[in-house]
Amino acid sequence: MRARQATFKISAVAPDGFPPPGAPEIAFAGRSNVGKSSLMNTLTGFKGLARTSGTPGRTRMLNWFDVVIPTGRPAVFVDLPGYGYAKVSKEMRKGFGTLIDAYITSRDALKAVIVIIDARRGPEDEELDFVPWLEEQGRAPLVVLTKIDKLSKSQRQPAAAAARRALGLKREPILFSATSGEGIDELWRAIDKLVQT
Ligand code: GTP
Ligand code: MG
Repeated sequence: MRARQATFKISAVAPDGFPPPGAPEIAFAGRSNVGKSSLMNTLTGFKGLARTSGTPGRTRMLNWFDVVIPTGRPAVFVDLPGYGYAKVSKEMRKGFGTLIDAYITSRDALKAVIVIIDARRGPEDEELDFVPWLEEQGRAPLVVLTKIDKLSKSQRQPAAAAARRALGLKREPILFSATSGEGIDELWRAIDKLVQT
C-alpha cells in the first residue's frame, strides 16, 4: 500500500504559524534521528516528502503534509521535531518541548500520535515520560518500533513484547523498517482506523 497523494503543506516554528485545521491529523513523534522522516517517506511511497538526514536534530519545525491515505480518505501528517537530542542546547530543547506540548494539548484536529522508537534501543526515559503523558492528554499513542531490519528475526517479537510491557500498552507495537518496507500495510490499517475516530 502507499498514499494516493502526499504533498508538503507548511512548516511552523511557533503556534501562531500552525495552519487552520482541516482533515484529521496524525502526528509522528520520536527522538532525534530515530527515523521519523524516513518512516513517513517509506509509508507514503513519496520518497522526497520529508527531509531525512544523517545529522540528528535536523527537523526543528513542525511540518504538515496533505495526504490521501490508501483507502481514499484525506488526512494530514505532522512531522514533529525530534526530542532528546543532546547536541542541541538546553534552551532550544525546552523550546521544542514547548512547541510539541502546545501542538499536542491544543490541536483539536489531532487524532493520534505515532510514537516511533528505535527497535534496538527500546523505550528510554523520554518514551517512559511521553507515552503516559499522551494517554493523560487523551491522545491515544500508537507505538511503532522502527529500524527492525537491524534486528534478527528471533529478536523481533521479544523486542515488541518488552516495549509493550515497559510502556504498559494495550496492544503490541507495530514493527517497521523504512529500509525493507516491513510493517507498511499494518501501519496503514491502523492509521485508517485512527482517521475515522
Ligand atoms: P530528525 O528529523 O533529525 O530528528 O531525524 P528523523 O527521526 O526524521 O530520522 P531520519 O528519517 O532522518 O533518519 C535518520 C537516519 O536513520 C538516516 O540515516 C536514515 O537513513 C536511518 N534510518 C531511518 N529509518 C531506518 C530504518 O528503518 N532502517 C535503517 N537501517 N536505517 C534507517
Ligand atoms: Mg526528520
